[in-house]
Amino acid sequence: MCGIVGYIGSHQAAPVILEGLSKLEYRGYDSAGMAVFNGEKIQIQKSVGRLKVLEELTHGGATMPGTVGIGHTRWATHGAPSDENAHPHYNQEETIAVVHNGIIENYLPLREKLLSKGYQFVSDTDTEVLAHLIDYYYKGNPLEAITKVMHRVQGSYALGIIFSEHPDQIFAVRKDSPLIVGQNENGCFIASDVPAVLKYTRKVYFIENQEVVRLRVDHMHFYTVDEEEIQKEPVTIDWDADAAEKGGYEHFMLKEMYEQPKTVTDTLLPRIKDNDIVIEELGMSDEEINAIRKIFIVACGSAYHAGVTAKYVIEGIARIPVEVDLASEFRYRNPIFEEGTMVVVISQSGETADSLAALRESQKLGHKVLGIVNVVGSSIAREADNVMYTWAGPEIAVATTKAYSAQLIALYLLAMKFGKVRGKLDADAFHSMLKDLKRLPGQIERLLANKQRIQRFANRYIGAKDVFFIGRGIDYAISMEGSLKLKEISYIHSEAYAAGELKHGTISLIEEGTLVAAVATQDALFQKTLSNMVEVKARGAFVLAVTNEGNTEIEKAADYCIYIPRTNPYFANSLAIIPLQLFGYYVAVGKGCDVDKPRNLAKSVTVE
Ligand code: M6R
Repeated sequence: MCGIVGYIGSHQAAPVILEGLSKLEYRGYDSAGMAVFNGEKIQIQKSVGRLKVLEELTHGGATMPGTVGIGHTRWATHGAPSDENAHPHYNQEETIAVVHNGIIENYLPLREKLLSKGYQFVSDTDTEVLAHLIDYYYKGNPLEAITKVMHRVQGSYALGIIFSEHPDQIFAVRKDSPLIVGQNENGCFIASDVPAVLKYTRKVYFIENQEVVRLRVDHMHFYTVDEEEIQKEPVTIDWDADAAEKGGYEHFMLKEMYEQPKTVTDTLLPRIKDNDIVIEELGMSDEEINAIRKIFIVACGSAYHAGVTAKYVIEGIARIPVEVDLASEFRYRNPIFEEGTMVVVISQSGETADSLAALRESQKLGHKVLGIVNVVGSSIAREADNVMYTWAGPEIAVATTKAYSAQLIALYLLAMKFGKVRGKLDADAFHSMLKDLKRLPGQIERLLANKQRIQRFANRYIGAKDVFFIGRGIDYAISMEGSLKLKEISYIHSEAYAAGELKHGTISLIEEGTLVAAVATQDALFQKTLSNMVEVKARGAFVLAVTNEGNTEIEKAADYCIYIPRTNPYFANSLAIIPLQLFGYYVAVGKGCDVDKPRNLAKSVTVE
């Protein structure tokens, strides 16, 4: 979603802002803009399209002199992507400029009110309402005007604001959309995410909901919505700036796929102690684990797919009923919470608006939430009662790979821990599973080493119109993720189907040459899936099979086979997903798609 960067200091602001925005490109956007105070007035430049258009327009920022400024990459919500709708937005006198990430839910009545007071609008955005509303309340004291606006608006917002009458200050404001501030000896920064400032500082402050920051060249002051000053402690970011760079890979996505053995190791090993699973962050005693009657897993996108896998794994190993919900559905479906219900929210970014809302809804009803989160200090990480981090490091490509793999590991650990404590997993089975878990990183490495074979196969399908992914049980969950990987970056329509369900309608879409990717890693379901493969093949499908080494019988029904190393069936997703990620990636590369920044998508979906 939208990205915000701001700078006030001794250097020229525009190049710093452009550099910072380039580190937020992964968030997804369709236009970009900057506002810089040039000594006399606030100058704004903005343009639809990629950041490089803005860079060219401003000669790398040279045509926008000044040491105070704010910048923005916009992911359109209200109003089409256009120069007019791009941020920053001015008030009428062009003395105030605002950039915004989020949605102002009551912007229509506010707009009506402002129109009746003589304000004129030049864009279709909800953000322009903020610029005029700040102007309306501004009587010389920016903090007072901003907090009045905060009391009036509903919705989510991270804001960067500058006033030409106060060119020695930038204001940063946050409610339900991420925003951080940082400082070094040359100035102060605001940003939507850490990578934007990492080149300049490692000490950052996470702004909480309903807080305002006044940034000056050499210091920052934090305030509540009631203008009371508060003290905050900085957080030192310990990951390397290189972690957010491509490091010689053609795309972040490829680099991140290659990081999966490490990600899996980092998420797994710290939680294995003396041949046991120790999840201190769980904050649950054995009695509490024994008291769980039901688990809700709530998430979006790939994190939801990890949750679907977890349903099979937790129910199978720990025998606890699991319901998996899309967060956007869960938050409005009035779910039935009973005594002993545990809620698990999974999110890479920790900022997904629907997942955060589901978390809050559960807490409101008195239920504790475990967050499985990748981004340290993110909203879900801070608001969950307990957090189990997936140690995947910064994930930049919009299509998740390594964070998904880390989520699976966290969920396997949870299932095994619960299974053991509840007496559903005997010692032999537990230790054999532990061994299998520890083998996963090496096995993933082997699969990645096979990339050229998958690339050659993928090149044959860059012209495909429809692709189907089928499987049963955990293989169905794998299919869902394989299908999403392909469609989100290559724009080829694809669907995941429970293999047994295909003949209830969807099989009518199979034509001569349609690619069907069949996942068959679960021995207990192998023959059933094989039959479904035969059915689609008989109708002209070209069948790609992903199965375990040794299952050569599959060659009767498949046109092309990818074999994965054997592991415990509950962990098969961690291996089977690797060739499917590579397949989606190489199809997208073959088609010339913008792999890391697919059209219309955002890395963290901070609006509903
Ligand atoms: O940050 P989150 O894990 O909460 O994000 C959830 C989804 O938006 C995310 O998984 C999305 O589906 C990705 N594009 C998948 O690659």
